[in-house]
Amino acid sequence: MPFRSLLICVALLTACVPEYNSDCNTEGGLYENVDFKIGTAVAPLELKFNQSYSNLVKDQFNQITPGNAFKPDALQPIQGSFSFNQADELVTFALENHKQIHGHCLVWHNQIPFWLKEFSGSKEQWVTILEKHIKTVVRHFGENVKAWDVVNEAFEDDGSYRETIWYKNIGKEYIQLAFEFAHKANPNALLFYNDYNIAAKTKKCEAILEHLNELVENGVPVHGIGMQLHISINYPSESKIETAAKTIANNGFLVHFSEVDVSVNPNGGGVNLSDRILNRQSEKYVQLAEIYKMLPVENQYAFTTWGVSDLDSWIPSYFGREDYPLLFDYNYEPKPAYCALNETLGQ
Ligand code: XIL
Repeated sequence: MPFRSLLICVALLTACVPEYNSDCNTEGGLYENVDFKIGTAVAPLELKFNQSYSNLVKDQFNQITPGNAFKPDALQPIQGSFSFNQADELVTFALENHKQIHGHCLVWHNQIPFWLKEFSGSKEQWVTILEKHIKTVVRHFGENVKAWDVVNEAFEDDGSYRETIWYKNIGKEYIQLAFEFAHKANPNALLFYNDYNIAAKTKKCEAILEHLNELVENGVPVHGIGMQLHISINYPSESKIETAAKTIANNGFLVHFSEVDVSVNPNGGGVNLSDRILNRQSEKYVQLAEIYKMLPVENQYAFTTWGVSDLDSWIPSYFGREDYPLLFDYNYEPKPAYCALNETLGQ
């Protein structure tokens, strides 16, 4: 594909702003031709104040995941005192624009409030905190949030349990308890386990499946698995991603491609956004879409990118490197990867 990219280096800015000539039809949005949802991670303030951003969310996606707004540090900054204002603005946007919300996330080891990091108490007290947080949050959103990432990133890449505050203070049964509390608070909600490197690390995938299968056998409601898929143009291979997605589906779980981004600069260093690199990124998005479309319909749920444009990707600030992993550029224009993904979804 003859994609042309050019770099406009703005004086006074140290970074160059990449622009693309990706000429493809964006009408109808990414979600137009598929039965599963096409989601993206969003921020309430961007939705409110950034017209280009919110227009893209409205036009291209039919599901949104709050990127940070539903995390424990945002929702319960002070013990027992919940703060729902920004999260509710996101719900209002979703209702007004007919977008489904994927709730993210109830239990995680990152982005927890300061008071919780400092808390020391008995196992019983920790379970009470877990229960209160989950039930208050899930009940607050009620039927406006029909699906939740209940537990996020509980396993290490080698398949062992991650020694999070939850694990240390409650033991591995915090996972089961979390799903049970969420189900009690909203018996209609779809409940997901979510993690990264599920495709890349076979041991991790196996451990997750073993744990979740056991929960399901014991009647604990676990409906789906989110494969985050923070991947790069080089890694992991198509066959690894396909094997993991199919295995999860074969085990009876919904499969959510939950936080897709495709790094063009996984090892840091300079980025030359050549046509070759942009094509590699497009190919990777196409691979993901092809794999997702091949899954049995009953295991499909949503394909979600982690952010709208390269400007709001978490990667540059979080990992301290230049990167352009998403579907839209700094001007909210479609990149080659958008065009390629849109074409694949439409086939
Ligand atoms: C990221 C957010 O996008 C950033 O804004 C924040 O600084 C850190 O967290 N896995 C997850 C997401 O489950 O919640 C993370 O989101 C990215 C990795």
